[in-house]
Amino acid sequence: MSYSLTRLKTSTKKMASGQLSRAEALACSGCRHACHVMLYADTKAQLFGRIPIKHIILMQMRFDGLLGFPGGLVNPSEETLESGLSRELSEELGLALPISVEDHVDSCYAPPSSPSSSSRLITHFYVKKMDEEQIREVERAAASTAADHGLEVLGMVRVPLYTMKGGGGLASFLSHSFIGNARSQLVHSMLRLNLVAPGELHKALTHSLKTHA
Ligand code: GTP
Ligand code: MN
Ligand code: MN
Ligand code: MN
Ligand code: MN
Ligand code: MN
Repeated sequence: MSYSLTRLKTSTKKMASGQLSRAEALACSGCRHACHVMLYADTKAQLFGRIPIKHIILMQMRFDGLLGFPGGLVNPSEETLESGLSRELSEELGLALPISVEDHVDSCYAPPSSPSSSSRLITHFYVKKMDEEQIREVERAAASTAADHGLEVLGMVRVPLYTMKGGGGLASFLSHSFIGNARSQLVHSMLRLNLVAPGELHKALTHSLKTHA
């Protein structure tokens, strides 16, 4: 097994065991909390009628030009993490999606944004599987009724999970810029949920690092 795939699997284990449990995270009273979710679905659709898309994963182009997952800052003294995430989804996607504790994947400290920043940020990550039609409904609402559309959220995007002859697809997507650790949340989720074959993911990662540099 290649070095970077070994490293990827090791860090996946670390992430699965959790840098912080949900309870430990909530015990930090001085911390700020943000919750984001990866919504995804299976699909039989084929690009150009011949390339299976396999899965739809939703991300968003943020106001700051970075890619990230829908969600945002939550105030645990006023709302649960999950109801706060649902509120953010109402603002950013234009519909109220119920999120439950079972959808929680992990919680971790975000690196301090500046040495002087007073309170640490803990990011909580969730994954929710939906039907293809539900994903389409989210996309429609996000582009029409969502309060944040065109403001904090410039648009929803699907992640290309395939690799084309010449390398386009997942590798090119991964070479964009992401907010916080959204890129590794995406990569680890694709691996953990088996949405992309490990070998193909490894190739895309290697190629994206090359094109990024
Ligand atoms: P406001 O309504 O303007 O406060 O934005 P928001 O509540 O929607 O917050 P946002 O989604 O920007 O998330 C808050 C912070 O969490 C960001 O400043 C980032 O540091 C971090 N963040 C944002 N998106 C992601 C993501 O997809 N993954 C991770 N790990 N962190 C993220
Ligand atoms: Mn065309
Ligand atoms: Mn928001
Ligand atoms: Mn947000
Ligand atoms: Mn917010
Ligand atoms: Mn806002």
